[in-house]
Amino acid sequence: MSHGNSRPVSSNQSGPHEDLVATVVRFRAGTEFRKPIASFNRVAFAQAADWLNARPGPWILDAGCGTGDSTCRLAERFPDCSVLGVDRSEHRLSRKHSVPDNAMLLRADLVDFWRLAAAARWQPKQHYLLYPNPYPRRQQLKQRWPAHPVFPAIMQLGGHLECRSNWPIYVQEMALALAHYGVAAEVSQLDAPEGLTPFERKYHASGQPLWRLSVDLNHLEPAVN
Ligand SMILES: C[S@@+](CC[C@H](N)C(=O)[O-])C[C@H]1O[C@@H](n2cnc3c(N)ncnc32)[C@H](O)[C@@H]1O
Repeated sequence: MSHGNSRPVSSNQSGPHEDLVATVVRFRAGTEFRKPIASFNRVAFAQAADWLNARPGPWILDAGCGTGDSTCRLAERFPDCSVLGVDRSEHRLSRKHSVPDNAMLLRADLVDFWRLAAAARWQPKQHYLLYPNPYPRRQQLKQRWPAHPVFPAIMQLGGHLECRSNWPIYVQEMALALAHYGVAAEVSQLDAPEGLTPFERKYHASGQPLWRLSVDLNHLEPAVN
């Protein structure tokens, strides 16, 4: 058995942030996020569009895919789907040298990619958020995806959302943000982690409990732009 040495997340929060719901409400109103889309993200988005348009059938988004390990594993698990892994780190993405035919790794910032995808009314069949950076300090709330101004675009994409973290509060905050959109989602412990990602393997080898939320967003009404 392997043993890791990864330390559990340390935070000055003992539960979901008290400003979380107010932050979700404010960003849902959509009045505060006018950050321009960077041209390199437009180019990356166009590459993804070309790739997906040439491939009929459902697709899966692996958001923050890191090295792309999970993108490849998902592509093997779901051979009838096209699997797009997106990460902003060239360094991480460059570690993967070959991918299955039904997978693509793309360097882009999700903050722009999600907004472009939502505006184009893309809808992945499944949407994975695997071990996003926790940004666990209380002052970092708005860097976590559920409290980020881009969260409405994530919701608009729909699909089946799977979020995993080694910090239970992250997944609890995701569930609270979803509840604000009328989506009931339960947080559960990942009892037998299959090692879908390098971070999942690392945390599991270190004996850390892992947490997940898995919920269908397809029944949501499309947002009005
Ligand atoms: C903790 S790592 C997890 C990577 C992978 N999912 C795993 O479990 O092994 C978080 C990843 O999210 C990526 N990331 C963070 N913010 C991002 C953003 N705004 N756009 C794209 N990728 C981002 C980082 O580059 C990093 O690879």
